Amino acid sequence: MLAVIGGSGLTQLANLDVSHREVLRTPYGEPSGAVTFGQICGRPVAFLARHGYGHTIPPHEVNYRANIWALTKRGAKAIVSVASVGSIRPELKPGDVVIPHQIIDYTWGRKSTYHEGQDSPVVHIDFTEPYDRSLRELLIKAAGIAGVAISDSAVYAATQGPRLETAAEIDRLERDGADLVGMTGMPEAALAREFGVPYAAINLVANYAAGRADSQHGISFDTIETVLQESMGRVRTIIESLVGCGDPSCS
Ligand code: HPA
Repeated sequence: MLAVIGGSGLTQLANLDVSHREVLRTPYGEPSGAVTFGQICGRPVAFLARHGYGHTIPPHEVNYRANIWALTKRGAKAIVSVASVGSIRPELKPGDVVIPHQIIDYTWGRKSTYHEGQDSPVVHIDFTEPYDRSLRELLIKAAGIAGVAISDSAVYAATQGPRLETAAEIDRLERDGADLVGMTGMPEAALAREFGVPYAAINLVANYAAGRADSQHGISFDTIETVLQESMGRVRTIIESLVGCGDPSCS
């Protein structure tokens, strides 16, 4: 089963034929909300709204451990994260869809491992390639089949939030090699890796990052809202294509 974690602008999957919802308890507390189960083109898909269905949970308070635990224990064999981002590079414009290939983590104070406490042995996961290579390739192929233009690589900087960055912080992220900035990519990706479940991301550029292009003197939240509403349909199309709706035997 594919699981999709939706971020800002994606609190439900319109194309999901819902069968039921489950409120799950985990050893790590409560997930962001009930997990919605259903089918897309006859294939099983689970959906979870990262910020809650009413968009009330800020990035630093998302219970990433409970979310990944719940999806994995309920049978997720792959997790696709959908998240909006700011663009640091002029070529990546608002409305663009990007499949990132690398992460730099600037978050702090988040519960970022399942392996902690005196009784738990220390575990070091390999995180050289933070996103699952095969799942990324499938996403890129799915976008191609669906005819959705994407950028197929980018370095994602995960910041703490909930405030947006200063212009100087964005300059620093660029010097570090980041192309995109968002607040929810970590520790989500690392926790999925700890469980050994393939995880990849679809990032939707909502705005130019602070100090860049039309965000020179500030970031317009109205514009972000409009971009997300106009562009999320293409993200849904990629997900449909990923689960096989482009396959004529699946209609
Ligand atoms: N910064 C951090 N997170 C974001 C942004 C941004 O500019 N846009 C959307 N998520």
